[in-house]
Amino acid sequence: MAAREIRTVGVVGLGAMGAGIAQLAVEAGYAVVGREVTAELGEKARGRIAHFLQRKVDKGQIGADAREDALARLSPTTELSAFADCDLVVEAIVEDLDAKVALFAELEGIVGPDTILATNTSALSVTEIASAVSTPERVVGMHFFNPAPLMPLVEIVRAELSSDEAVETAFAVGERLGKRPIRCHDTPGFVVNRVLIPLLNDCLRVLDEARVSPEDLDTAMTAGAGWPMGPCTLVDLVGIDVHVHASEALYEKLREPRMAPPPRIVAMRNAGLLGRKSGRGFYVYDDS
Ligand code: 3HC
Repeated sequence: MAAREIRTVGVVGLGAMGAGIAQLAVEAGYAVVGREVTAELGEKARGRIAHFLQRKVDKGQIGADAREDALARLSPTTELSAFADCDLVVEAIVEDLDAKVALFAELEGIVGPDTILATNTSALSVTEIASAVSTPERVVGMHFFNPAPLMPLVEIVRAELSSDEAVETAFAVGERLGKRPIRCHDTPGFVVNRVLIPLLNDCLRVLDEARVSPEDLDTAMTAGAGWPMGPCTLVDLVGIDVHVHASEALYEKLREPRMAPPPRIVAMRNAGLLGRKSGRGFYVYDDS
């Protein structure tokens, strides 16, 4: 089954992941409609994208004109109705099934009949999200990794009723974004999170078992296991709330004790220590 041509991409939610996906899409030449709930949040995301594109200019990776052209392709909005002409909409909102279901149901009433609807969910069921619409064959998972502009993988997730055309179109878009897409089915955690979430939870349990500091645990896994960044730095980057939610979602579905979030990070989440995005997690960040 051939992929459908995509010209205009919508991104719902311009947090760290959504802004990263929007950045990739404007760099790849797509017209991009990016939706945030307030104009201020939309402007913040645009500023973030402008900043990272400027770093690429500074390092000679792209020209100043290419940066301007890419930024001109981004149209921030607060209105879902702005997605009416999108060929593909990628959802990157909060990891809450009810919120995603409500969004997909609303989107179905706005977009054209052929528009593909993709979710960037980390650990929810794409099939359950697809059940919100009367045309679930157009729904797929496009699971990017944090930071989206840097991590090469995108998991293209086939839900129970996804059409071949939707899967192949999402795969082709992943390639055009410069990613290395893989195809997989809609199982809990898909491929990477099924493995990575319990592994990170093991790492975090070792903090208490071996009475090791976050700094030393990170050194252990970078210097001793070749990880590009240590587990505490990584969980801070992903977001403590996102990690706790993904752990709970996996545990709920698969019941493996290692998948349950360690009490230490649940307490951190409850205290508002969300990692890099809140300025404090295992480490303190001055630049957020
Ligand atoms: N968005 C856009 N551009 C960014 C960025 C971001 N968030 N962060 C950094 N950059 C750009 C910057 O311009 C930076 O250059 P600068 O410092 O000169 O401005 C440039 O990228 C390179 O950044 P780094 O020097 O920090 O790059 P590194 O070589 O150190 O690699 C890394 C960074 C790729 C993040 C590497 O540390 C890595 O692979 N870490 C592991 C990350 C990982 O495992 N992610 C997966 C998490 S799990 C997940 O996301 C699933 C989810 O469902 C929970």
